[in-house]
Amino acid sequence: MKGVYFLASFLFLALASSFASASDPSPLQDFCVALNDTKIAVFVNGKFCKDPMLAKAEDFFFSGLNVPGNTSNQLGSKVTPVNVEQIPGLNTLGVSLARVDFAPYGGLNPPHTHPRATEILVVLEGTLYVGFVTSNPDNRLITKVLYPGDVFVFPVGLIHFQLNIGKTNAVAFAAFGSQNPGVITIAKAVFGSNPPINPDVLTKAFQLDKNVVKYLQSQFWWDNN
Ligand code: GLV
Ligand code: MN
Repeated sequence: MKGVYFLASFLFLALASSFASASDPSPLQDFCVALNDTKIAVFVNGKFCKDPMLAKAEDFFFSGLNVPGNTSNQLGSKVTPVNVEQIPGLNTLGVSLARVDFAPYGGLNPPHTHPRATEILVVLEGTLYVGFVTSNPDNRLITKVLYPGDVFVFPVGLIHFQLNIGKTNAVAFAAFGSQNPGVITIAKAVFGSNPPINPDVLTKAFQLDKNVVKYLQSQFWWDNN
């Protein structure tokens, strides 16, 4: 009997792992142009599809990624996303894009992760110091200085950053393996959550004085994307 249970559990786990996938689910039709219909109280994994016969070129189109983002902010960077919110035709297709602009002398895209996507980044202008940190227990930092034409990959879920170490503007384009990669900006999520995390939690977690935690919680209101 034990053997039967073992076999059943093994088969179940084997089946479950065959469904696990590192990118968005495959489309079951040519495309599924997204509709933001909030009148119906049901949700799908993604967005509702428009009738394919009503699809038009505009559903698959975005213009303006040639325009530099405004980097006049605390971080000196600006992410311009082009995902399913901007191109409804990306729904179910598992890819998206962003332009990232950096101010000279230290423009920073701060440590963040994408819960649903690997990112591949190409530098068009400037010099970027980029890196990511592997998961526990190693937490190994992997970094590289990138120049125009260089490409770098940030694996799904890992914390990563890009810093402009040059004297000029920098610009990079990033592609993601999801229609909606999501962003968790670490400092903002931890110290700028709404409502705030109880300072006792952060005081112990970061081994900080409670006043420092309260100060940090008052600072993290910025947004660069
Ligand atoms: C860059 O890392 C980005 O997520 O835009
Ligand atoms: Mn990123």
